[in-house]
Amino acid sequence: MPVEKNPFQLQEIPPDAPFCDRERELAELLAYARAGGNVVVYSPRRYGKTSLVKRVQDRLRVDGAVTVFVDFFGVTSVDDVAARLAKAVFRVTHGREPLWRTALRVMRSFRPVLKPDAGGGFTLTVEPAGTGATGLELLEGTMESLGAFVREGGAPVQVTLDEFQEIVTLRGALSVEAALRRHIQGHRASYFFVGSRRRVLLGIFNERQRPFFRAAINYPLGPLPPEDLARYLVERFAAGGRTCPPEVARRLVELAAGHPYYAQKLAFLLHTGGGRICLKALDGALERLVRSEAPVFEAVLQGISPHQRRLLRALAFEPSAAPLGAGFIQRHGLGSVGGVQHSLRRLEELDLVERPAPGAPWRVVDPVLGLWLRRQEEDRLPGPA
Ligand SMILES: Nc1ncnc2c1ncn2[C@@H]1O[C@H](COP(=O)(O)OP(=O)(O)OP(=O)(O)O)[C@@H](O)[C@H]1O
Ligand SMILES: [Mg+2]
Repeated sequence: MPVEKNPFQLQEIPPDAPFCDRERELAELLAYARAGGNVVVYSPRRYGKTSLVKRVQDRLRVDGAVTVFVDFFGVTSVDDVAARLAKAVFRVTHGREPLWRTALRVMRSFRPVLKPDAGGGFTLTVEPAGTGATGLELLEGTMESLGAFVREGGAPVQVTLDEFQEIVTLRGALSVEAALRRHIQGHRASYFFVGSRRRVLLGIFNERQRPFFRAAINYPLGPLPPEDLARYLVERFAAGGRTCPPEVARRLVELAAGHPYYAQKLAFLLHTGGGRICLKALDGALERLVRSEAPVFEAVLQGISPHQRRLLRALAFEPSAAPLGAGFIQRHGLGSVGGVQHSLRRLEELDLVERPAPGAPWRVVDPVLGLWLRRQEEDRLPGPA
């Protein structure tokens, strides 16, 4: 059976694949990196942070820079943080003399282990180099090595730490922050700290008593501009041999609230749906989108307390500038002000709710989660007697 090519991309977008807009962001981040600046890049989940910073790194590589990319998602220990940093240096220098030799010489805490794989390439892992150091000592040693690599590599270095907020989940997180900060401030390199748990990530850089206080430029990434996104979708449909009328593209963007991932996924589902691309077909795609996301949302709800769930539902129905007010609490059966305060803080930490501007109403961050929550409630209404 021939596989029909779907022109919509649900994974991270490689630097050479079609990308919607982000021209200004790309130029600004490039300028910060070239100036050796440190930047916190943040947005809700799946706004395109990783795709964008990888694009920036790709451009920097063309100019001869060394670009180190580390993903902290799911880090389990300080040793793990150190190992990921070292591995990222070996990964980017492998096959690039004289950088590889420099990395082998200066990276003292870990050594690379390369094994041939079936595809003719290598798999790379790292193992401790037998210094006996663990924990913070190992991290300090690795950061010192990274500093030596920056000094001696002979090329500008850009380091991107994706899902950086994950370090706060480690035992002794504040000491980890302090160690990283101490070394990073001495490196003549640009660092990007990237993440989606905004409250947690921004806390690291904007709370006075924290080691990284004011150590980086805050750089929020917003939704994609509606006109650009609609145009991009029409073009992608055309690349897949389909015609998408502009009003359908505009409606799709509206339904996705400019959210890059949901726009791509809705378009993907609309494309696979076959038939003519029209507003009715878009309704069907939206149904399938909500259904396909349901397990993700169920897992989200399972991870929070019943009271937090109730508050999340309440905000899905009624975004509110005063969720602590008596009216809101009473309408949604939320109990005490203290309870709502606590749940609100937790939901914000999880980046499930946000207040887009001071004084603006609190709302559910994810537009499709909001829709799903509203529908669930509506399903529960009793039918006519
Ligand atoms: N500029 C863009 N043009 C088109 N699609 C985009 C763009 N940016 C992001 N996307 C869509 O969003 C998806 C998520 O992108 P990416 O993984 O880079 O986001 P992220 O913010 O790093 O996500 P996460 O919060 O999960 O780490 C991509 O697979 C793609 O579908
Ligand atoms: Mg990402």
